[in-house]
Amino acid sequence: PNPERDRLLQAYEWTAKFYHYLLKNTEHGKAAMDYLRSRGFNDKIIDQFQIGYAPDRWNTIVQFLTNRSFDLQEMEKGGLLSKRSDGEDYIDRFRGRVMFPICDRNGKVIAFAGRVLGDGQPKYLNSPESKLFNKSRILYNLHQAKPSIRKLRQIVLFEGYGDVISAWEAGVQNGVATMGTSLTESHAAMMKTMAEEVVVCYDGDRAGQAAAMKAIPLLEGVGLRVKIAVINEGLDPDEFIRKYGGDRFQRQIIDGAVSTTKFKLIHLKKNHILLEEDGKIAYTKEVLPIIAGLPSSTEREVYLKELAAELELSFESLKQDCNEIRQSMLKNA
Ligand code: UTP
Ligand code: MN
Ligand code: MN
Ligand code: MN
Ligand code: MN
Repeated sequence: PNPERDRLLQAYEWTAKFYHYLLKNTEHGKAAMDYLRSRGFNDKIIDQFQIGYAPDRWNTIVQFLTNRSFDLQEMEKGGLLSKRSDGEDYIDRFRGRVMFPICDRNGKVIAFAGRVLGDGQPKYLNSPESKLFNKSRILYNLHQAKPSIRKLRQIVLFEGYGDVISAWEAGVQNGVATMGTSLTESHAAMMKTMAEEVVVCYDGDRAGQAAAMKAIPLLEGVGLRVKIAVINEGLDPDEFIRKYGGDRFQRQIIDGAVSTTKFKLIHLKKNHILLEEDGKIAYTKEVLPIIAGLPSSTEREVYLKELAAELELSFESLKQDCNEIRQSMLKNA
């Protein structure tokens, strides 16, 4: 038994319900509701993800918790309140933000992410780590995604809360996201206990694609099969779904996810001008070791053929270079 932990869980549960109520039923929540509607979130999805609103006031949650006899110092340590800058009193940690409850794998609220309405910094304010909340072990939406993950033996990994939510509405219900921090080995190990395959569906901008490159070795390192969903125009999954619809997201982006090798080739290509000899050679030098490292000769042949066609080089010369690289790799291993 851990009474402090239980009290904090109780406070989070009630606070989440209160934020949700304030969003849906009060004058305070109106602007937030308008904001959510403008993003395309309907009532059903707002309920499903228990989205809420923290009013732009100093003491809404201070009052709420005081009325329920919670110890404010304990609640500050637990991340629901902040200390006033003069160190005397407590104030609400989240003010004027749309609130996304973060749940553990059993569906208990253990943290919040609060988004500003519109522009402002930080865009998302997250709960600090606490007795309940360890960022590197939590995947957003895992509790709701579990049945679909078990059935498909597959997880779709997103960057953001909005991506998970929009994908859910589009019928992709095996989606989870990390909490603003990058993917850790412990996330990867958790995923491996539930699924065989992970589809990495990060934002289509530079940062997202670079993060996908980093996620590959972590996920493959625990023995997961990995595919990468590539979104063009720099859109994120949520924006893609708003622009092109859920069906196309499912078919083109998720079902069309490419192998990690293919993704690496696409990603590295962006650094080179393939119309110039120097560019062709530099690109080839970067990608041949990737192809040479593939254990299956069929696989190596597939990618070498694609590369030959794309660069207008002969398959034979690429294959010869590739074999030489492979020999020296095997020798040094
Ligand atoms: P993005 O910048 O891609 O935000 O960050 P987003 O999810 O598309 O946000 P919207 O659609 O504008 O609402 C991806 C994720 O990084 C974390 C959040 O988890 C976010 O969903 N993040 C981002 C933070 O924790 N804090 C920030 O200030 C920004
Ligand atoms: Mn509700
Ligand atoms: Mn992003
Ligand atoms: Mn994004
Ligand atoms: Mn977004």
